[in-house]
Amino acid sequence: MHDLKNKAILGTVIHCPKRGEIEFSENALVIIDDEGKIVDHLKNDAVNHAQTKNKFKDVGALFELLDHQYLLPGFTDLHIHAPQWPQLGKALDVPLEVWLQKYTFPLEAKYEDEVFARIIYTELVTSLLRAGTTTAVYYGTIHQRANQILADVCIDKGQRAIIGKVVMDNTDQCPDYYRDASTQAAIDGTSEFLEYVKNHGKNIENKVNVAVTPRFIPSCTDEALNALGDLASTHSSYIQTHCSESDWEHNYVIERCGKSDTEALMEYGLLTESTILAHGNFISENDMDLIKEQGAGIAHCPLSNYFFSDAVFPLRRALEKGLRVGLGTDISGGPSASVLDSCRSAITAARALENGTDASLERDERGVPKSRVDFSDAFYLATKGGAEVLNLSTGSFEKGSFLDAILIDTKVDNAIIPVYEDIDSELDLVQKIIMLATTANITKTWISGSSV
Ligand code: GUN
Ligand code: FE
Repeated sequence: MHDLKNKAILGTVIHCPKRGEIEFSENALVIIDDEGKIVDHLKNDAVNHAQTKNKFKDVGALFELLDHQYLLPGFTDLHIHAPQWPQLGKALDVPLEVWLQKYTFPLEAKYEDEVFARIIYTELVTSLLRAGTTTAVYYGTIHQRANQILADVCIDKGQRAIIGKVVMDNTDQCPDYYRDASTQAAIDGTSEFLEYVKNHGKNIENKVNVAVTPRFIPSCTDEALNALGDLASTHSSYIQTHCSESDWEHNYVIERCGKSDTEALMEYGLLTESTILAHGNFISENDMDLIKEQGAGIAHCPLSNYFFSDAVFPLRRALEKGLRVGLGTDISGGPSASVLDSCRSAITAARALENGTDASLERDERGVPKSRVDFSDAFYLATKGGAEVLNLSTGSFEKGSFLDAILIDTKVDNAIIPVYEDIDSELDLVQKIIMLATTANITKTWISGSSV
């Protein structure tokens, strides 16, 4: 049985609808309607549990999990550079501004070739679905056809996705071989891509959407940035960009605009409740206030930050301040396609921030106190936190949510997660899944109740 529309799932269900509140329900019954939405979530002790279960069982519409299988929400990856998939796991030796010119722009320029784009994007989306990424937020390239192909592939494979035509029109920062033909061409290209996805004959459930995507302030002219702000407002569209990622990038913007990325984005009309800011490592307290006020979200990319930011995002401070945050792999700045790895990196990066790293300093001068986060925070960010940044009804098994889910099997050959019922509590089990599970343990992925 693959499709879960008009069916019920019976088994152990784990989700985190609010930060710090993991719910672990054994023998839970999750009921899905014909659109893939959860219409009921009955705990083991619900009065109508047995009767409802039998009703579905009698008509062969009960999907029963085994003892070592667990239903979790699928993951939301808030920051992926789709064209960088062939670069995953390499080119990590130079700083951001060199990396872009030396490795990344030459690779992205290749997507002028539609055949190449289709091969790579098919492999990327297939791999991410296997890794449990049910919602993906992608940067494409400057090329119209390649971006359309990425949208086609996501629609064909059923992945929930937000995709951006990357805008790069600044002659100072973008090479001749990889730059929009003109500012107007960049803006028109964005409008055309918005129309393409909106009018796509197969995008019937609107699972694929567009984000207005100025790559980052350095790669765009003021004219383009202002026009993109207007365009996003006209179409009520998502917006994505990089924000205060590294010293170089943060200082470039201060020098050019006389203010921080956050303040500048606000003036361009690019800081809204539908904005996804990648990284944000160097944001000030004032920037945080502004991001919160505007309701923008942050894609925390902890693994990439080790290589390209030389700093750790103050995740705990942002969460305690009430900012909306989720996780991003930042393929290929972050050398992993797995949001589970992002979870682990978020935990270790926060611990490194709290403890400090320079052994020549005294213990109490080494770190930033109260910076650590735990597996529960990471699980929340990977699921409900990411969904909330995108204002989507996914990321948990609450009534009314879409059934975007993964099946974790702890007893897959060669990928055993050591769980012992008499030693491990329910939360120990969740922690072990977050810390140890690999793509091999994800034996099924569903989006809107459809097996993908
Ligand atoms: N800033 C502008 N472009 C990029 C990119 O492709 N990756 C990362 N990590 N930062 C960027
Ligand atoms: Fe990035």
